[in-house]
Amino acid sequence: MQYEVVLPAAGSGKRMGAGQNKLFLKLLEKPILIHTLEVFEQDEQCTGIWLAVKPEERAIIQELLVTFGISKVKGLPDGGAERQHSVHSCMKEMEQVDIVLVHDAARPFISHDIIANLVQSAHDFGAAIAGVRAKDTMKKVRNGVIEETVDRESLWMIQTPQAFQFDLIVEAEDVAEKIGFLGTDEAMLVERLGHAVHIVESSYENVKMTTKEDLVFGEAILRKRAL
Ligand code: CTP
Ligand code: MG
Repeated sequence: MQYEVVLPAAGSGKRMGAGQNKLFLKLLEKPILIHTLEVFEQDEQCTGIWLAVKPEERAIIQELLVTFGISKVKGLPDGGAERQHSVHSCMKEMEQVDIVLVHDAARPFISHDIIANLVQSAHDFGAAIAGVRAKDTMKKVRNGVIEETVDRESLWMIQTPQAFQFDLIVEAEDVAEKIGFLGTDEAMLVERLGHAVHIVESSYENVKMTTKEDLVFGEAILRKRAL
């Protein structure tokens, strides 16, 4: 089953504190952005990549695509002030496809198996997102004091990719734009429509490169995979 992927890459990487877009930082000599792009370049079901970029970074990214032989990119529209806007600017340029995946450019370790499970689940149910079970004891805290210990069984930590049938994500984004709703992920926009969103069990390796420590985890994952 074929899909196209939207990769928002127009962030600032403030929490990484590198003074530049964190996607240009290297993990074992290769930029994070390229590690992520290579997954989709090599994924047989992927027929197109849409990359939301900052206008001032477009030229350098285009150069990287050539250097690393990334050929599936169909467009690099301007990103927006929020991640959701960046995703939307890609969606606006896309033509009808069966399935759309939205994936953080900052998550380079997503596997082909998990992608395939998400695509299948989105095909069957309309919407499916990657997540892992919460590992730690979870408590709700208010003003520094425990309010409640939450039942961990029902708690999942949500990642990307998030996969959708094309018409569903288009409708969800249109409604969100009309009413000015800002979600923390695309699934929230679909949830707002009252549509069920299924979860696909993912991997703890699918970490987002967010703070400095994540780079250490990231390089460790790459070294383990190279063994
Ligand atoms: N992103 C984007 N447009 C934005 C904000 C984020 O395309 N306006 C992208 C980032 O480039 C990243 C993904 O969305 O690939 C996930 O966002 P996050 O991890 O929060 O990255 P940043 O926003 O860059 O980091 P920070 O929040 O620490 O500034
Ligand atoms: Mg951010």
